[in-house]
Parts: sequence; structure tokens; C-alpha cells
Amino acid sequence: MAAGESQPTPPDPALVAKGLQLYNDARLSGGGNFSCASCHLSTGHTNNKTYDGLDVVAVGDPNGRSTPTLWGAGQRMVYGWEGAAPTLEESIRGIIVNRMKGAAPSKETLSALAAYVRSLPYPKNWQLDDDAPIAAATDAVKRGFALFTSDGGCNTCHVVPSLDKPNVEDVGTGGRFKVPSLRAVASTAPYFHDGRTASLRDAVKYMWDFYAKKMNTGRVLTDAELDDLVAYVSAL
Ligand code: HEC
Ligand code: HEC
Repeated sequence: MAAGESQPTPPDPALVAKGLQLYNDARLSGGGNFSCASCHLSTGHTNNKTYDGLDVVAVGDPNGRSTPTLWGAGQRMVYGWEGAAPTLEESIRGIIVNRMKGAAPSKETLSALAAYVRSLPYPKNWQLDDDAPIAAATDAVKRGFALFTSDGGCNTCHVVPSLDKPNVEDVGTGGRFKVPSLRAVASTAPYFHDGRTASLRDAVKYMWDFYAKKMNTGRVLTDAELDDLVAYVSAL
């Protein structure tokens, strides 16, 4: 991957400014009570809650959907936990109409909101360059990267540059879901589409066991290796 490819391209500042205004505008919702920032915070990050429509529901509720971070969300291969929206604009249109029960947005509104979301970078960890550890990275992160890209098989689904995949997969969580991006994943709990898993360590362990079983490798992860894998994933 070319240097810088994973960060947003410089957008039109006027359009981004208009997008920021709309992002905080509750008039986009039918009831006038919800703006994008209600759930994705004013920073674009997740509020760590799980929703059915506009209602917060218990984690693990089959109709609940965990709020994703918008940091780095300009670069997803597909949008939404069901992987149903091929573009950022489609995704935002669906959220305004279906989740927020708002009026169908104009093309101008959509392109401003999309420009704002595309302007949100993800926090880069000093230990990684293009998602690979640099020489000065900790040994734990280096070992974790090796596990991620070899025995763990993580990179067969969480593919660079956005660490997701354009198609959905059944990983035994109750259906076929999008391979989510792992950007800033250390602070996006709860995990999986319905927020069923509270800790990143448990989510990573689940994924390891899923892949080992699927490929019939019999490769058991030690606690120390799990620490390493979590250290690497937490740096993404
Ligand atoms: C009530 C809370 C809530 C509000 C308000 C809300 N969102 Fe979301 N957003 C979510 C949830 C939950 C998801 C995951 C939904 C799904 O995939 O089914 C999501 C998904 C997204 C995604 C897809 C991200 C990805 O990685 O797939 C984008 C983009 C997004 N929201 C942008 C916005 C914008 C822009 C607004 C304002 C117009 C907005 N959202 C308003 C909760 C909310
Ligand atoms: C076969 C494809 C596949 C493989 C291999 C895979 N994943 Fe996943 N991963 C998924 C899917 C699909 C989900 C979402 C499932 C859901 O939401 O119910 C997911 C979810 C996750 C999550 C939760 C992210 C969030 O935002 O909730 C983490 C963390 C994760 N994977 C890490 C890993 C690690 C680490 C590995 C390697 C040990 C790995 N994955 C291997 C497909 C895969």
C-alpha cells in the first residue's frame, strides 16, 4: 500500500464545514431529537451504545446494533453490519430515513455529510506504518502482528487498507455479517454486531477459536499469545 493511502484525501473545506453543521443538526431526525452526534459523539467516535432504531437496547439483543466509530470510516469496503450499503452516501441516507425517521435528504445534504465523515482520520499508532510494526515497536506488537497474519488467519478477512472485506461472513454469531474494520477497535466496545462481547480480549479469543475450528488447525492460543494479539489489534 502506498504511504498515506489509508488516510482521507483532502476534502473541500466549505463542504466539510457544511457537513459538520448538519452532523450536529437534530432537524435531520423525524422527532427533532437526534443528530448524528447523539450516537457517534461530536468527535465522530462511537458512544459505545447498542441501538434498535433510536432506542438503546441491552447488549446481545438480536435486534440491537452496536454503534460503529466514524474515525476512518471514509475508507470502508462496504457499510452497515449487514453489509447492505455499498457507499458512504447510501449508508447515511439509510440511517436518516430508516433509523432517524427523517425526511429523505437532498443530494447536497448527503454529499456534505459524507465529506465530513471522510475528513475524520483514525488515530495513528506510532508503532505501525501501513499497519505493520516499525523496528521500534514493542516485541508484543511484533509477535501479535505475526499471529494476525499467519496462524490466526485474521488478515484473510480483515484485509488492508481498511481491515474489512466487501462481503459478509458467518462466524457463528447468528447470521452473516460484514467483516468490520478494526480501526480504533480498542475503544469501540461492545463488540460484534449486537454488542454481545464486552472485552476486546474476549472478542479476539472468540475469533481465534472460530478460525482454528473452521480450518481445523487445532492451533491453541496461549494466554501470552493472546496478550500479544490484543496488543497488535489495539494499535490499529
Ligand atoms: C440512534 C443512534 C444513531 C444516530 C442518530 C446515527 N447513527 Fe450512524 N450508526 C448507528 C448504528 C447503531 C450503526 C450501525 C447500524 C447497522 O449497521 O445496522 C450506525 C452506522 C453508521 C455508519 C456505517 C459505518 C460502518 O462502518 O459501517 C455511518 C457512516 C453512520 N452511521 C453515519 C451516521 C451519520 C452521518 C448520522 C447522522 C445523519 C448517523 N450515523 C446517525 C447509530 C446512529
Ligand atoms: C472468516 C472471516 C474472519 C476471520 C478469519 C476473522 N474475522 Fe474477525 N470478524 C469477522 C466478522 C464477520 C465479524 C463480525 C461478526 C458479528 O458482528 O457478529 C468479526 C469481528 C471481529 C471483531 C469485533 C469488531 C467490532 O467492531 O465489533 C474483532 C476484534 C475481530 N473480528 C478480530 C479478529 C481477529 C484478531 C482475527 C484473527 C484471530 C479475526 N478477527 C479473524 C470475520 C472474520
